Amino acid sequence: MKLFIDTANIEEIKEASTWGYIKGVTTNPSLIAKEGSSQKEIIEQIVKLIDGPISAEVTAEDYPHMMEQAHELYQIDPKHIVIKLPMTKDGLRASAELKKENIPTNVTLCFSANQALLAFEAGARYVSPFLGRLDDISDDSIKLIEEIVQIKRNYGYTTEIICASIRNPDHVKKCALAGGDIATVPYKVLSSLLSHPLTDRGLDSFRIDAEKTAKLTEK
Ligand code: E4P
Repeated sequence: MKLFIDTANIEEIKEASTWGYIKGVTTNPSLIAKEGSSQKEIIEQIVKLIDGPISAEVTAEDYPHMMEQAHELYQIDPKHIVIKLPMTKDGLRASAELKKENIPTNVTLCFSANQALLAFEAGARYVSPFLGRLDDISDDSIKLIEEIVQIKRNYGYTTEIICASIRNPDHVKKCALAGGDIATVPYKVLSSLLSHPLTDRGLDSFRIDAEKTAKLTEK
């Protein structure tokens, strides 16, 4: 399962770009709003940092304006930009139309298997089911990922499933077990994936033993 970073914070993306395992970035209007610059300025910086798909979301709610924004965003960097569209009638229409122009899309705010099916049929390159927000209303988010994966396999759809609204490391593991293609993960959760107390303890004992060996060699 590929890992994307879910943020619009340039410092976080800069650091994540050095880790060797972050393959893309997802942003949304709320993440952009936290950063205090325009979407265009932020996306222009992100595309220089990560050589992979960068999702930039339209804010218009009607089809003509969505298409206008989609073309503007895509022009920032046609090699990397993916147009993020809402799971609405206009969003799906835009996805189907942009597919004809070979512009990749990510249909977001997916909360049901039927919604994912519509995104598959509308030619989306990616669909983003949200885990955390479903858990918040006591729904079973992992079951949703399993259902979407099953539908994708039944018909051989090529749309990639981006598991989104990830809140903890357990979400990441369960999405990987369920067969999600990608998890887009906030910086804090990504950092915690690496940590394990036994790794730290093992490193400490290896360091102590290596120092002993070095002293013996010095003699
Ligand atoms: C991803 O594409 C979404 O923008 C993001 O994961 C939403 O996460 P949240 O529910 O924590 O806001």
